[in-house]
Amino acid sequence: MKNILVIGATGQIGSELTMKLRGLYGPDNVVCGYIPGAEPKGVLLESGPAEIVDITNPQQIADTVNKYGIDTIYNLAALLSAVAEARPQLAWKIGVGGLYNTLEVAREKGCAVFTPSSIGSFGPSTPHVKTPQDTIQRPETIYGVTKVTGEMLSDYYARRFGVDTRSVRFPGLISYTTLPGGGTTDYAVDIYYSAVKGETFKCPLKPGTFMDMMYMPDALRAAIEIMEADPTKLHHRNSFNIASMSFDPEIIYNKIREYMPDFKMEYELDPLRQAIADSWPDSLDDTCARQEWGWKPEFDLDSMTQDMLANLKIKLNKEVSEPVHA
Ligand code: SER
Repeated sequence: MKNILVIGATGQIGSELTMKLRGLYGPDNVVCGYIPGAEPKGVLLESGPAEIVDITNPQQIADTVNKYGIDTIYNLAALLSAVAEARPQLAWKIGVGGLYNTLEVAREKGCAVFTPSSIGSFGPSTPHVKTPQDTIQRPETIYGVTKVTGEMLSDYYARRFGVDTRSVRFPGLISYTTLPGGGTTDYAVDIYYSAVKGETFKCPLKPGTFMDMMYMPDALRAAIEIMEADPTKLHHRNSFNIASMSFDPEIIYNKIREYMPDFKMEYELDPLRQAIADSWPDSLDDTCARQEWGWKPEFDLDSMTQDMLANLKIKLNKEVSEPVHA
């Protein structure tokens, strides 16, 4: 039985991953680690233990690991790409300093560690289409710099100290539960909210800006399956390309219009996000993940769109028209 600590458990990924892990491993065996100001609420608070774990505070990590006999840490603390550009020093402190603190506790206590990397770990010199698993990683954002550093530091701790570190490179993640904050791929979440609210969506990226995206249920499954994978089959560790869909603003807009024909989108470009998106791959090649641990996505753009609209309709209590296509 695993005893798991999720650091950053009230964030975009953590709030859903913590609940899914509690369902799989037992509610008492998954600790919700949060920072003051981002306290757990509702079912996340009520369904299991919660502790203040600021990743920049190594003692808080060690105390929680000791108190609950933790053997696996999901490290989800990070500033997303656009907000990190506004606060690069803090992005490094959390992304790299925090990871170092986590890995040191893991080394001393024998914990496995999952730390997500990202499509943001690539840069302008990376091949942009079907980006290979092993390729040039020279990102130009501080977010990307922390992610590449994290991949290398995690691999170092695996090689040098035998810490069981594993990771995936997440695409933009789309969910109706917890909003992302300050990312470059956030538009692909915001567009669904605008559609269901009946508002005209102001798109911050121009047509033709392709990026990999993934529906949250697939992303959660990836995070769990990589940590459950047979280690003898893993040639890579930090970090695996994973992919399920790649689209630009026009493609997602037209997909939503199949279900909501009156929906409107206008372009209102954000130069920072556009520059970041232009430096990232259009699509990743996830062959290694498929071969080494059986990765396979379940959602495509159409099934994700149907699920997002249906659930946001309930969440926002609005009516969505029936599909217009056969
Ligand atoms: N979703 C992240 C961002 O946009 C990328 O991993 O910053």
